Amino acid sequence: MAREFQQVGVVGLGTMGAGIVEVLARNGLTVVAIDKDDAAVSRGRGHIDGSTGRAVERGKLTAEEQADLLGRITFGTDLKALADVDFVIEAVPEQLELKRAIFSELDGICKPEAILASNTSSLSITEIAVATGRPGKVVGMHFFNPAPVMKLVEVVRTVVTEQHVVDDVEAFVQRLGKTDVTIGDRAGFIANALLFGYLNHAVSLYESRYASREDIDAAMKLGCGLPMGPLALCDLIGLDTAYEILDTMYKQGRDRLHAPSPIFKQMIMAGLLGRKSGRGFYTYEAPDSPKVVADALTPSLDAEIQGARTVQQVGVVGSGTMATGIIEVFAKAGYDVTFVARSQAKVEGVLAALTKSLDKAVARGKLAGDKRDAALGRVTGAQTVDALGDVDLVVEAIAEELDVKQAMFGALDEVCRPGAVLATTTSSLPVIAIATATSRPADVIGMHFFNPAAVMRLVEVVTTVSTAPDVEATVLEVCASVGKHAVRCGDRAGFIVNALLFPYLNDAIKMLEAHYATADDIDSAMKVGCGYPMGPFELLDVVGNDVSLAIERELYTEFREPGFAPAPLLEQLVTAGRLGRKTGKGFRDY
Ligand SMILES: NC(=O)c1ccc[n+]([C@@H]2O[C@H](COP(=O)([O-])OP(=O)(O)OC[C@H]3O[C@@H](n4cnc5c(N)ncnc54)[C@H](O)[C@@H]3O)[C@@H](O)[C@H]2O)c1
Repeated sequence: MAREFQQVGVVGLGTMGAGIVEVLARNGLTVVAIDKDDAAVSRGRGHIDGSTGRAVERGKLTAEEQADLLGRITFGTDLKALADVDFVIEAVPEQLELKRAIFSELDGICKPEAILASNTSSLSITEIAVATGRPGKVVGMHFFNPAPVMKLVEVVRTVVTEQHVVDDVEAFVQRLGKTDVTIGDRAGFIANALLFGYLNHAVSLYESRYASREDIDAAMKLGCGLPMGPLALCDLIGLDTAYEILDTMYKQGRDRLHAPSPIFKQMIMAGLLGRKSGRGFYTYEAPDSPKVVADALTPSLDAEIQGARTVQQVGVVGSGTMATGIIEVFAKAGYDVTFVARSQAKVEGVLAALTKSLDKAVARGKLAGDKRDAALGRVTGAQTVDALGDVDLVVEAIAEELDVKQAMFGALDEVCRPGAVLATTTSSLPVIAIATATSRPADVIGMHFFNPAAVMRLVEVVTTVSTAPDVEATVLEVCASVGKHAVRCGDRAGFIVNALLFPYLNDAIKMLEAHYATADDIDSAMKVGCGYPMGPFELLDVVGNDVSLAIERELYTEFREPGFAPAPLLEQLVTAGRLGRKTGKGFRDY
């Protein structure tokens, strides 16, 4: 039988502590909430009032339930108020000495059987535990932000944690309506160990001006279905907290990719801590407000598309999945589309696939019958690029091989009218190597659509060192007019999405390889803790391990970053033919 806890203490009422108090009180527990001074207490209380108030407004809580919930919480500034609690959760700033001092003090105040838990994201629970006279009763209890919403709690046991304490804490997590994964004491545990390398990488892309904050965030949201972009997430986490977590992870693993990007420190020094201070990577309406307001860095589409060339007729080259989806996008948006496939059979295949897809949209009520007919009427198939002499924009979506694409661009260069924009959908080849196969590299640009193109809203617009500004403006305007969200980036391996996604997937494989956690626990931590639509191993099996390996090799070759070197386990799976869902076996069997 698990122990029933009645009274629980929370120390530190910041971003996490206030949310944890709310979770506890919502579940009927009596909570003693402590912060260091009256100002901090009143801020924490304001946070809880605000959050429960919003729940009342949304009809998720009645006013009476809110009053009961608030009535179960007592606030204070003295740890001595915790003498009678059964359980304490600490959520003070991410500093080891501070946490050790608090645990040592709590050890003297709390009942001997009380369990002491830290919400630390990265610090060693063992080091915190040994600051007390009861290391067997100290655990990590890592909630996710925002605590009332996110379902995951990582329960961290050390080599001295007593088994019945772990059992009691697991039962307690379940009583709170949360999902637990229990793991050993390693910096970052599961979720942060995988999340923070990615966040740091995103911050470095921003810092090096590879892409704008809006574009980095939109790319990961729209390209990977993540609930938030990485920079918005850093703002939510708090830049100071993120810095401390990275720093601890770096000190433990000496992985360069965890060395906090220099801009973190500059922003923290300047008081730009994220949402809690009203400004971080973005500017917020007020401290603690989730509402982003425009600032000097906010982009304007009008300015970006200035000087755009006129596009009425579009050419698409290719007859595969991507080409067919792209033809659909343009035809539905009202452009005349001429596509080029290598044989009459392929031309007919594309038209059949296009008709099928549009019919499906009609059947689902997403497209009117006359719109489908009009879209189909705008599409013409051809077997040679000679048909593209008059088009304003060509989008190439043929085989992902450099010599094949170069030959195609050489041919387009011969037939297309001067001023036509020539775009490639390559996801991995250097756009400049394709551009220089023409006599007009300034007119060549990357338009990286995502699969399925008709559904996915993201397009990475890739400019080379030679791309003319009005060519970029043209493509941005075209993307907007076909309902796509364009993000701008430079011509290097992985662009934004793959460069951020694949090192994270590789890190997950390395964690599995190190036997720190199972594939199920890792997938569950990322889905339940971070709101990802799929766990890394589910995603790897969908993408195909051979494809992932190829992308990781490319990233490694481009950046020579030791941390990007493909995990040996991935290479072995590919060698063994375990490619994922497509072969019926990958990280899992299907
Ligand atoms: N922010 C996140 O997304 C997140 C997620 C999970 C876990 N965590 C962890 O939770 C802990 C708290 O992080 P946060 O983001 O809530 O930080 P925060 O800065 O928002 O809040 C920290 C709170 O602790 C209080 N405090 C400082 N010294 C204290 C003391 N001596 N006694 C009592 N209270 C004191 C501060 O006044 C503040 O209210 C950290 O260990 C962090 O790593 C953070």
